[in-house]
Order: sequence, then C-alpha cells, then structure tokens
Amino acid sequence: ARPIVIDTDPGIDDAIGILLALASPELDVRGMTTVAGNIGIETTARNAARLLAFAGLSDIPVLIGAQQPLSRPGPEPLGLHGADGVGGVDLPEPLRSPAERSAVDWLADLLLGEDPGTVEVLALGPLTNVAELVVKRPEVAQRIGRIIAMGGAIHEPGNVGPRAEFNIATDPEAADIVFRSGVPVVLVPLDVTRRVRATRNFAERLAASLVPGAVKTAELIEAYFLSAAERESRPLHDPCVMLLALRPDLFECETLRLTVGTGSEEAGALLVDEGQGAPVQVAMRVDAPAALDLLEKGLTGVRGH
Ligand code: BDR
Ligand code: CA
Repeated sequence: ARPIVIDTDPGIDDAIGILLALASPELDVRGMTTVAGNIGIETTARNAARLLAFAGLSDIPVLIGAQQPLSRPGPEPLGLHGADGVGGVDLPEPLRSPAERSAVDWLADLLLGEDPGTVEVLALGPLTNVAELVVKRPEVAQRIGRIIAMGGAIHEPGNVGPRAEFNIATDPEAADIVFRSGVPVVLVPLDVTRRVRATRNFAERLAASLVPGAVKTAELIEAYFLSAAERESRPLHDPCVMLLALRPDLFECETLRLTVGTGSEEAGALLVDEGQGAPVQVAMRVDAPAALDLLEKGLTGVRGH
C-alpha cells in the first residue's frame, strides 16, 4: 500500500474522502494533519479523530496544524458544514487526543523516515500546512512524491467569488508557495468536482449496503443536503482527490502554468500564464459515473478496482 498523509479541514465532504481512504487497502494512511478551513482548528482536528474512532483506526495520529492562513485572517465559515463541521452527523468521541507535535514537524519526520518520492499528500483544505513545510524545511518538502489537492476553478465560476474557490481563496499565498515549490502538484478543481455528484438515491444505496462506513457516508450526504434541500444532488469535492489517487485513469489532466491571485486581482483566482505561471497538473475532466461507482464500491468493500 502507498503511504499517504491526509491534510484536511473536516468538513462533510472531507469526511467522506477520509472514510473512502480508510476503507481502501491501496492507501496506507500514516496520519492526518489538520488545518483551519471549513471550521476552526480545534473542530477540524477533533473531527479527524472522531472519524478514526468510528473506523476503529485510532492508532493513526492526528496532528494539529495551522490555526489560520499564512498572512490573512481566518476564513469565514461557509455554513454548509454545520456548527460541528460534519452537519450534526453522529460520530464517536475521539479515543486519543491530538499529538503534541506540530503538523509540520511531524510531516517532516515522516518524510525523512521514508524513501524520497514515496509519500503522497492528499490535501483537502487550504494549503497552509504544506506551504509551511515548504518554507521551513524546503529540502524535506522535496521528498514528497506528489501533492493531490482539491482546489481552484479554471473555466468554472468559483464558489466564494466570481473565479475563486474556497480552499485556494482562504490561503492564496500558501497555494502560490506550494505551486512554485517544485514538488509535483495535481490540482482537482471545481471543473471536475462539480461533475461528481451525490443524489439522495446514491445515499440510499450506500445506506442499504449496511456496511458501517457506507452507512455513515449516506448520513453525511443527507447532512450535505440540509443547507440545500431544494437541490437534486450535491458535489463531492474532496472525495475526488482520493478517487484520483486510486484511479488516475478516470481523470484527464493537463499541465497548466498557473498564477494565484494574491494582490490586486481577486484573491485565490487562478490564471493561466505561460510566462509567470508555475506548472501544475490540473484534472480537467472526469468519468463521473465511473468515479461514483468506484466511491460506492470502495465504501461498501467491493474490491477489484
Ligand atoms: C472545498 O471547500 C470546502 O468547503 C470543501 O471541504 C472543499 O474542500 C470546496 O471548495
Ligand atoms: Ca475540505
């Protein structure tokens, strides 16, 4: 199994991605580094630990990371994820408190203990923690095999501004540092994540499986509808990162040279700039039915993908 670290701000869709990763024997989740984003840092760390307790995997460490973006005030909660960050879905209390070490120190030690290029970071929130590693320990950061990050919008409109997506807009300076770091980055923008959508019917199928992780995912999807009851489906943003890690052939990527709006431009807007941009592999298209099928099979324990 491939060693991975999940950097996350759970978050309803983060939680679904985490449950998929924990259910996937291809992925060896070494730890979860948490970041402020959908909700404050105490709550995202606590939710990561609650998900591990639910999965019976509390040996996996949870590390507390950045409490706020590199050089901006913390994000306004979107309200989509409820007061507890997981839409009120029932999860057990954490079995362990978060580790004492900082997320960045822990990540650096993990990378130094593994062969260079083997550890992948699956990033589901603002990129503050990863950027801090790049800034504080640049030579250690180069040992990351690849960062697969949910964020940004290329042709699609943004979700927090005309062109800005929440994860990148929350900490655009961090995204810029990560994109320019020289570490391979695969970005999964709204152009793809808005195509991979859960319907109530999809949730009902998961619930009917009676597999605990799938039943809990069905509850999370139902909770995701609470803030948008009139909608027929909800986008599964963060799980797309895990789906791409498991089955890259379901996605079509293009290398784009991207700059991140940090100054007078809209914060977090991504611009393609052949001259100044940093090369980022961007997932532009997805086989959505196959991606949903993989999510369902992964959560219900049907193997063979
Ligand atoms: C991203 O923002 C968060 O609300 C979600 O968890 C996802 O990571 C989508 O823009
Ligand atoms: Ca997230």
